[in-house]
Amino acid sequence: MTPLAEPLPAVPTPQLADVGPVEIGTCEDGTPYRLNLHGTHVLVAGATGSGKGSWIWSIIRGLLPATAAGLVQIWALDPKLMELSYGRRLFGDRYAADPEQCADLLDEAVKVMQERAGRFAGVQRSHVPTTDDPFVLVVVDEVAFLTAYQPDKHLRHRITAALATLTTQGRAVGVGVLAALQDPRKEVMNIRNLFPDKIALRLDESEQVDMVLGDGARDRGAHADLISPRPELGAGVAYVRLETSPDPVRVRAAYVSDTDIKAMANEYAGGEAV
Ligand SMILES: Nc1ncnc2c1ncn2[C@@H]1O[C@H](COP(=O)(O)OP(=O)(O)OP(=O)(O)O)[C@@H](O)[C@H]1O
Ligand SMILES: [Mg+2]
Repeated sequence: MTPLAEPLPAVPTPQLADVGPVEIGTCEDGTPYRLNLHGTHVLVAGATGSGKGSWIWSIIRGLLPATAAGLVQIWALDPKLMELSYGRRLFGDRYAADPEQCADLLDEAVKVMQERAGRFAGVQRSHVPTTDDPFVLVVVDEVAFLTAYQPDKHLRHRITAALATLTTQGRAVGVGVLAALQDPRKEVMNIRNLFPDKIALRLDESEQVDMVLGDGARDRGAHADLISPRPELGAGVAYVRLETSPDPVRVRAAYVSDTDIKAMANEYAGGEAV
């Protein structure tokens, strides 16, 4: 049987408050796959129904104990009003769906980032998550709704500028961006290259693979266009290409069901375990 052809149940939430790497799912050899969020920015691209939600929710799930301990904050931007709204209780005030509010939240993240940059200057060169300065992970579902497809030009510019600022300056001070994207064409996502780590789920065309993962990725075996469109076989399957390694790795994210998300919200909403 082909490796990774079976859906995987959600990874149990970790016992310890750990900022990462987060166990997301399984590699082809059956070992757990862990992804770093702290110290990078991650782009998750894939066609509709490819399972971007399972990546986003597996990441959020793995960070929940650290969120409860105050070491991580998850800020959620949900312009499609779909993916993240189901667990919105987890995010408290740090949730926005309306584009204007998304822009406000991004500007607030930029402020946090700049305040830290000023304070850390000359004192520390990398961020260590603490309750005073938690790792802030800004999660954006369907970033193109806020950028390329945003009809209000002023808002579009504001949002694009904030995202570019966060992705160019955020990682050293503990502000990261995790963005999901359906359409990887360059004109849709001109800030794509600002994400050091990239994940390609099922894509419609072979040319899109290098658009997401960078030059040469498909030649190195990232056949994201050949991932099965049948959800049970292919949803959540992706090729990961990290800044630190040119070789793409095939991984399947675990599936975090609505029931899982509800249980997560019941246990962790408000940022504290109950
Ligand atoms: N990791 C997974 N394992 C098995 N099945 C999955 C997985 N992820 C998603 N699915 C199935 O595929 C469906 C579509 O997944 P999902 O909503 O995450 O796609 P998406 O990429 O976010 O699509 P869209 O761009 O339309 O939001 C889910 O409803 C679920 O049935
Ligand atoms: Mg989705």
